[in-house]
Amino acid sequence: MVQNHPDSVDQILAEITGLWSGAPSNRRSPFHTPIVCTVKDASPSPRVMVLRDASDDGMNFRFHTDARSPKAIEIGTQGPIAVLGYDPDLRIQLTVRGIGRIVRVGAYAETAWEGSALSSRRCYLAAHPPGTPVTEPISGLPDHLLDRSPTEVESQDGRMNFAVLLVEAQELEWLKLTSCGNKRALFRRDGDQWAGQWITP
Ligand SMILES: Cc1cc2nc3c(=O)[nH]c(=O)nc-3n(C[C@H](O)[C@H](O)[C@H](O)COP(=O)(O)O)c2cc1C
Repeated sequence: MVQNHPDSVDQILAEITGLWSGAPSNRRSPFHTPIVCTVKDASPSPRVMVLRDASDDGMNFRFHTDARSPKAIEIGTQGPIAVLGYDPDLRIQLTVRGIGRIVRVGAYAETAWEGSALSSRRCYLAAHPPGTPVTEPISGLPDHLLDRSPTEVESQDGRMNFAVLLVEAQELEWLKLTSCGNKRALFRRDGDQWAGQWITP
């Protein structure tokens, strides 16, 4: 039977890196909004995040978040991270495991802030940190910004709450579902190279 998928680990690596690096600019890709899982008090702590950038070599991933959020505090300068997405059309699950780092200041964070849309910056203008208990289902945004994006000037108050989450990948995993048997491959980072092997699904 013809199997419609790549059959060498090098081809799989190219497929993985292509899917991740294409996702930030493709809102329709399921890998645009993967699940990012951190560890809180030895328990898994998952949530969906927008993937803002993924390097062509599959080694670095960038997300944006509120510096006051529990996950930013959990990760700090170094924390274990898993990033997971599934494309039901391709029937491919991709997993990244690596080390996360929160970056709030410096040229890198500044460039990320400058490149973010005003509509996205609005999140960082909420009065209280994400997860703060409230008595009503409120967004926490200022009343005058409930139905519009902030202006460039208004948005600047959110800069101090803005942070970049950088993920340095240590492992990339690929799982392809097919009617004639699933396939799975694991890549471990060795310096600036990936070493891949097939593993049983
Ligand atoms: C489609 C979608 C996209 C999201 N994108 C982000 C994001 O880019 N950054 C972020 O911090 N939270 C994002 N969130 C919200 C998170 O899933 C989460 O609820 C929030 O960040 C609080 O997480 P925490 O309490 O684990 O820190 C997104 C949620 C959804 C449903």
